[in-house]
Amino acid sequence: MVPQLLLLPGLLLTLLMAEGSSGSKQEENLLVLTVATKETEGFKRFKRSAQLFNYKVQVLGLEEEWHGEDDKKAAGGGQKVRLLKSALKQHEDKEDLIILFTESYDVLFASGPAELLKKFKQAKSKVVFSAETFVYPDRKLEAKYSQVRDGKRFLGSGGFIGYAPNLNKLVEDWKGLDSDSDQLFYTNIFLDPEKRENINITLDQRCRIFQNLNGALDEVVLKFENARVRARNVMYDTLPVLIHGNGPTKLQLNYLGNYIPRVWTFETGCTVCDEGLRSLTGFKDDALPLVLIGIFIEQPTPFLSQFFLRLQNLQYPKKRTQLFIHNHEQHHLSRVDTFVKEHGKEYHTVKVIGPENHVENADARNMGMDLCRQDPDCEYYFSLDAEVVLNNSKVLRSLIEQNKLVITPLVSRQGKLWSNFWGALSPDGYYARSEDYVDIVQGRRVGVWNVPYVSSIYLVKGSALRSQLKQRDLFHHGKLDADMAFCHNVRDQGVFMFVTNQHHFGHTLSLENYQTTHLHNDLWQIFSNPEDWKEKYIHENYTRALKEKLVETPCPDVYWFPIFTDVACDELVEEMEHFGQWSKGGNTDSRLLGGYENVPTIDIHMNQIGFEREWYRFLLDYIAPITEKLYPGYYTQTQFELAFVVRYKPDEQPSLVPHHDASTFTINIALNRVGIDYEGGGCRFLRYNCSIRAPRKGWTLLHPGRLTHYHEGLPTTKGTRYIAVSFLDP
Ligand SMILES: *[C@@H]1O[C@H](CO)[C@@H](O)[C@H](O)[C@H]1NC(C)=O
Ligand SMILES: *[C@@H]1O[C@H](CO)[C@@H](O)[C@H](O)[C@H]1NC(C)=O
Ligand SMILES: *[C@@H]1O[C@H](CO)[C@@H](O)[C@H](O)[C@H]1NC(C)=O
Ligand SMILES: *[C@@H]1O[C@H](CO)[C@@H](O)[C@H](O)[C@H]1NC(C)=O
Repeated sequence: MVPQLLLLPGLLLTLLMAEGSSGSKQEENLLVLTVATKETEGFKRFKRSAQLFNYKVQVLGLEEEWHGEDDKKAAGGGQKVRLLKSALKQHEDKEDLIILFTESYDVLFASGPAELLKKFKQAKSKVVFSAETFVYPDRKLEAKYSQVRDGKRFLGSGGFIGYAPNLNKLVEDWKGLDSDSDQLFYTNIFLDPEKRENINITLDQRCRIFQNLNGALDEVVLKFENARVRARNVMYDTLPVLIHGNGPTKLQLNYLGNYIPRVWTFETGCTVCDEGLRSLTGFKDDALPLVLIGIFIEQPTPFLSQFFLRLQNLQYPKKRTQLFIHNHEQHHLSRVDTFVKEHGKEYHTVKVIGPENHVENADARNMGMDLCRQDPDCEYYFSLDAEVVLNNSKVLRSLIEQNKLVITPLVSRQGKLWSNFWGALSPDGYYARSEDYVDIVQGRRVGVWNVPYVSSIYLVKGSALRSQLKQRDLFHHGKLDADMAFCHNVRDQGVFMFVTNQHHFGHTLSLENYQTTHLHNDLWQIFSNPEDWKEKYIHENYTRALKEKLVETPCPDVYWFPIFTDVACDELVEEMEHFGQWSKGGNTDSRLLGGYENVPTIDIHMNQIGFEREWYRFLLDYIAPITEKLYPGYYTQTQFELAFVVRYKPDEQPSLVPHHDASTFTINIALNRVGIDYEGGGCRFLRYNCSIRAPRKGWTLLHPGRLTHYHEGLPTTKGTRYIAVSFLDP
């Protein structure tokens, strides 16, 4: 466990600077030069890391047009040499001035100027270049490099340090084009023995100063020490000062950048956090940023009514919220309609694309995003898939406050490691597990993480949609699925995607095994999504009844406690009425039902609607535990002989004659409300002359079946009464 450093950020910074500034006289003679034509997120990260260690940085070429072909390619880069050449002119006579030249889009400082200067001086050369595992851009030059016993052999132009006059000599002969290769230019100088000696150049072969990650990923590990994190090269046992995600290693740099150079603890994440947060405290509701929420129902999804409930309960003013809903499913048409009819007016605007529009996933996502892009007032686009169960109603505010271009709250499948982000990519662009993935999903490392893939729910700044991400089609790329295409395109624009696990936000549903053949399909979800099933169907006071034995005893040995929500009762009744094949009193197997007497009921059995497995699971999960509490020493497998819903009506079957149940014990759940849905009804235990005349909806009676608890169903005099009955045996 890493000891927690509880320091104020300001204090900590001073501490770091103090560490970096022993011999501050020397450091005044250090200047960092870099070329950046755009303030990309990578560049801002570089700048923050430089500020943290108090480097003096001069940026060349900002707002100048980039003439290299593409910063992903090794070729090009001549522009950098040209800019450096002209910047060095003014320093050519400064014998004591030490200049560090480095790339900045994909570079991080891991330590301060003092350590850098010390290591440079120990190298005993006037110019030190970073070293590479691979020779490029011209493989034929490999033979010209001398062999080295221990270390990297080839020059890398991404970073070098040297005295100003020597660096001036290095670049003064540059006459190339902006699109020529800087790497080749420096390589040719280095491979010319005369020039090399004259300018006095060596390579940082053992990565004491410069760590190029390309070809060296296995050499670099994170080393945690107190609240500081360093990247260590384990091959050479060095602690590089600059880390460069060159070539195809940008994502690895993003990974390392989650830890360095920020001051960081496992429990709280970064202490000296990166860019400023955006506080929403004190804002009046009508001054909050306008958000467009894009809602995507792309496949049959359970618990959609819960989804809309949570949407309504989001703590964000609806007048500052626009909705774009893409519903691909006929099955969910009425649910979406109902929501829009009942609540649409509360929102700033609502637009619905239904199944009749035949818009596919990726196109719909492009449409939603473009609505925000085209509206200058739209400050945030919040994309939300229907299978996300957001149980943190403050989610929007906390994401906005993080002030990122793209950020997602961590949501994972309950009890599983599947989540809505990837910590790393495989070489072919698919999922790979990063070393910290499990710790982040399980909350052992907390923070805001730069990751290569997010999905299901994310917030994007409208300003980013109108600049870096202005291409209209972000959700297609080759044959990739929409989610992967989106991330690919976002990465391609150099935009960072973050996931935060600083709070608990919610989870995602399992969509497997969701059948749409019933009226209320969620009832069947007890196996696939047990927690969501519980939230929807189990009475809110059930757990207290179980834990605190808050169980009533209306008659001797008859227990009474809450078990179902109103929704559970209603859906079960509606499901039965929808099925409609009520037994005509007398059809029921009276041997099982009465035991001693022929007491047929008007009923539908759970197995008739294909619900017996689910019902059994319900008994096991919710009835068995409470039975064992109430009858200590009694363990039940809740085997049930019969489970059915009974219907009582004055003109059909109003009551049930006295009888024993053929069970060890019986549960009898009232499914509707006396005085509202029906009158009369209830249950009388003859031996005790004790009646329960006002059954409570959602509450169950639990009583022994045989011998003592001879009972009758009292007449229903008006309306229709429903109860769910189960006979249970050990
Ligand atoms: C650089 O100069 C030092 C002396 O100042 C010398 O010892 C060293 O060999 C030189 N290195 C190269 C690569 O020329
Ligand atoms: C959200 O879910 C988590 C875990 O399922 C739970 O601990 C937490 O209390 C829930 N929060 C709310 C507000 O429902
Ligand atoms: C749960 O119990 C509390 C306290 O007794 C009560 O106020 C609340 O109404 C109960 N909930 C339901 C759904 O009956
Ligand atoms: C049963 O109880 C009712 C009142 O609850 C009473 O009127 C009746 O006499 C009792 N019957 C017997 C047999 O004790």
